[in-house]
Amino acid sequence: MNAIIEKINRALAEAETRAAAATDKAAIEQLRIDYLGRNGLFPALSKEMGSVPAEERKETGRAFNAGRTRIQELIDGAMERSGSTAADSVTERPDLTLPGRRRMTGHKHPITMVADECVAVFRRMGFIVADGPEIEDVFHNFDALNTPQDHPSRDEQDTFYFPDGRILRTQTSPVQIRVMESHEPPVRIVAPGRVFRRDTPDATHGMNFHQIEGLYIDRNVSMADLKSVLQTFATEMFGSGVKIRLRPHFFPFTEPSVEYDFSCHMCGGKGCPVCKNSGYIEIAGAGMVDPAVLRNVGYDPEVWSGYAFGMGIERLAMLRYRIPDLRYLYENDVRFLEQF
Ligand code: PHE
Repeated sequence: MNAIIEKINRALAEAETRAAAATDKAAIEQLRIDYLGRNGLFPALSKEMGSVPAEERKETGRAFNAGRTRIQELIDGAMERSGSTAADSVTERPDLTLPGRRRMTGHKHPITMVADECVAVFRRMGFIVADGPEIEDVFHNFDALNTPQDHPSRDEQDTFYFPDGRILRTQTSPVQIRVMESHEPPVRIVAPGRVFRRDTPDATHGMNFHQIEGLYIDRNVSMADLKSVLQTFATEMFGSGVKIRLRPHFFPFTEPSVEYDFSCHMCGGKGCPVCKNSGYIEIAGAGMVDPAVLRNVGYDPEVWSGYAFGMGIERLAMLRYRIPDLRYLYENDVRFLEQF
């Protein structure tokens, strides 16, 4: 019997006694540390193994393995008697000094954030939120909005048609019709939502995008009311520095009609690629609701008048967050989305 086997036998005898006496977790853990731990007996013995003469090596190796197994049994046995499991052992408890792992929480998409913000601003001005379907009929999207039969926006090149003749709404304006059909005047609503057009995507156009529609019908509503609401909205969203610009335009459902720009938030109005060097970004179409539209929904244009507007939410988001290209909003790249 060589020195190593002797040490193993002595250790086993000692460990039997200690294991029988060990009742608390700390004592059992100490047992493991002393014999099996990194600086314990068995790892030390395994280093001595190299010096064992070849003819004794087999026997020594067997004693070593048997001894190590036995120690583990003693530890397991003691552990069971003390009512703890391996998972409770001191070393396997979670390390409370480690830095925490950050939870990945989602958040609203920037488009939704801006849409919510717009709605909040208009609610403070007394507007309530209305809603309409994304799959519309031609009547609400075009006919009732006084759009002539040969108007280019009805073209299949601009509008997505379903085989049954229904369409993906090209604007949120059909919500105006739906609200007026179902409510007596006065009405004051905003309607945020998704719209669809067969545009070729570029930095400021997409095939589907979002608008927020506004409609106010009452007695004696004027263009000045429209202008003040739009200016108030611009200031609330972008601060007092933002300038607005109305340009004469044409829409079949408003008369007079305007297009309506905000000074470019990206360059402060100096001119940049986003505003195509004009210093302004087109945000909305607007105007006084055409009497023909009021008649279509059974409102008397001699009594009631009003304004309507439709703004591009992506355009607002671009200004709000200084996003140079609208396509970022749809690529779902978390490196982009995480920044909001
Ligand atoms: N619906 C128009 C568009 O999409 C915008 C608009 C809304 C214009 C309301 C006037 C009144 O371009």
